Formats: sequence, structure tokens, C-alpha cells
Amino acid sequence: MKRTCLGGSNVSRYICTLYGYSALRIASYLPKDALFITVDSNQESAQIASEIFKQAGISDRVHSVVGSSQTVIPQIKDQHPISSFDFIFIDHSGENYLRDFKLLEYHNLITSGTMIVADNILYPGSPDYADYIRNNPNYSSKMYEASVEWPVGVKIKDGVEVSVRN
Ligand SMILES: C[S@@+](CC[C@H](N)C(=O)[O-])C[C@H]1O[C@@H](n2cnc3c(N)ncnc32)[C@H](O)[C@@H]1O
Repeated sequence: MKRTCLGGSNVSRYICTLYGYSALRIASYLPKDALFITVDSNQESAQIASEIFKQAGISDRVHSVVGSSQTVIPQIKDQHPISSFDFIFIDHSGENYLRDFKLLEYHNLITSGTMIVADNILYPGSPDYADYIRNNPNYSSKMYEASVEWPVGVKIKDGVEVSVRN
């Protein structure tokens, strides 16, 4: 990942934490000077995730923020040493992907080269986000097919949308 933020750190952002499984997988590949911000509105989940990040030895590069994405995004530049993100992972509720994505754009947190990965694009799905990103000349976007892991044994088609700002 390229360096884009103030203070010389690589910066990623992650909506949302739950118990931090994806955050743990992603952040463990980041260099020590990276900053990875995770956001979740559920305080209890965020506390459990923070404990897991500590146990995994990555709490130096992961900041866990408790709050609704709609409130956190506009304040993020004031509270963290960043100008924009290299990487954004979106995995909260499909009906809010587009709203939050537009907030990220509005606050200039997405710049040329930013990669955005949106999970569960087909199931439960986020059709308005998929439509927006695929038909926007500012982004190159592709869906990678996957199937959901639950309910166990039931094959439901899903996808991960990977987009890069031109
Ligand atoms: C599918 S789980 C995330 C799983 C996580 N990515 C993982 O791999 O472990 C969705 C999480 O989004 C949180 N959430 C839903 N809407 C939110 C919002 N608007 N702002 C912040 N967190 C939200 C929920 O509290 C829940 O923990």
C-alpha cells in the first residue's frame, strides 16, 4: 500500500468491527507503521475486538472506534492523523453502504488509488451501492463471486466488490 496520510503511516479504514475477524486478518499483513481504524456502533463487540487485537499483538496499529459510521466519518480527520485512506473495507449493513460511501467522498477520504472492498454485495446485498460504483467513471470496479458461510451447508451466491479510485 502507498503512503498517503499525515505522519507517514499507511492508513486503512474498516466499517465495521464486530469481533474483529476481518480486521485481524487484514491488519496482520500491514507494516508496523500502518494505522488501521475499525468502526462499530456496538460497544460490547468493539471491546471484545480490542481485547483480541491486544492478544494478537496488533493493537499498536489498530484503532477501534465505537460509534455509528454516519457520525464517525465526518469526525475522522479531526481525531486521527490522516488525510485520506489507502484502503477501505465496508461490511456493516447493505442499505447504508452508499450513504457512507458518499460521506467518505464528501470528506475527501477517498483519493486516487484508494481501494474500496465491499462485502456481501449480493446477499443480503447492496444494489444501490453496486449500481453507483460500477457506473461511476471515477472508479474501476469488479465483483468477485463468493458464497455466504451461513447457514452452514446452504450455498447462497454472494460477492465482494473491489473498486479502485482512478
Ligand atoms: C457483519 S458484522 C461485521 C463483521 C466483521 N466485518 C467481521 O468480519 O468480523 C456487522 C457489524 O456492523 C455493525 N454496524 C451496523 N451498522 C453500523 C453503523 N451504521 N455504524 C457502525 N457499525 C454498524 C454491527 O454492530 C455489526 O457488529
